[in-house]
Amino acid sequence: MEVLKMAITIQVSNLQQGYGKTIVLKNINLTVHNGEILGLIGPSGAGKTTLVSTIMGMLTPQKGTVTVMGQRMPNRKLLAKIGYMAQTDALYSTLTARENLNFFGSMQGIASDKLKTQIPYAANIVNLVPDLDKYVKDYSGGMKRRLSLAIALVSDPELLILDEPTVGIDPELRQQIWAELHNIADEGKTILLTTHVMEDAEQSDQLMMIRNGAAIAQGTPDQLVKDYQVKTVEEVFLKAGRMQDENNRND
Ligand SMILES: Nc1ncnc2c1ncn2[C@@H]1O[C@H](COP(=O)(O)OP(=O)(O)OP(=O)(O)O)[C@@H](O)[C@H]1O
Ligand SMILES: [Mg+2]
Repeated sequence: MEVLKMAITIQVSNLQQGYGKTIVLKNINLTVHNGEILGLIGPSGAGKTTLVSTIMGMLTPQKGTVTVMGQRMPNRKLLAKIGYMAQTDALYSTLTARENLNFFGSMQGIASDKLKTQIPYAANIVNLVPDLDKYVKDYSGGMKRRLSLAIALVSDPELLILDEPTVGIDPELRQQIWAELHNIADEGKTILLTTHVMEDAEQSDQLMMIRNGAAIAQGTPDQLVKDYQVKTVEEVFLKAGRMQDENNRND
């Protein structure tokens, strides 16, 4: 098990990323091992989605490199091994939830007999079993988020990349989802998620805080709380932000 955990799933080295001439992320370095849950936090517009899109291979790095499971990204072949939940739901509203799960599952290369067990499994994690045969156009916003999460889970991927998976999810269900994310990580799978919710950050094995294009703090929640001599992850984040502002003023 320990050997499994040591393997590297995601390696980001000296990444600079942005859009056109705009630079959003400067010199990001990140290593995520098998079986680890990495939480990415930072203010709105900090570049969380930009970073996860780059790791997914939807954007090519401006500078630096991203490797996933030893392969340089972008790499289409790896997409079958990644379960991705985008920040904006991309669902077929004229299909039912079950049909969406079937469609995206087969796109991921899952055989139809495996899908027959995976669809109820994934739907159950997000409490959508009773609504599987409803049309997505009749879903609430939170139900759509939950369906997007189920789609990311349906292929039983080696790597889960979840962009704000807990938005629109009530506290009880959030706990249930976290319990399953820990189970998945215990199987040696890797999870990268972004969040604004401190409870999510506290559940992560490793945290990376990005602000003004830079990683301002990285480590386990416990270690960060200790290092910053504060009581909560939220206070770490606030203190690291103030320290970054101080440094920028002194530059
Ligand atoms: N397609 C794009 N073209 C140009 N600029 C973009 C594009 N997508 C994002 N940006 C810019 O890049 C910066 C980072 O955006 P990003 O979506 O990565 O932030 P975020 O941390 O995910 O924010 P949020 O918490 O609001 O989701 C922002 O300044 C945004 O305006
Ligand atoms: Mg985002």
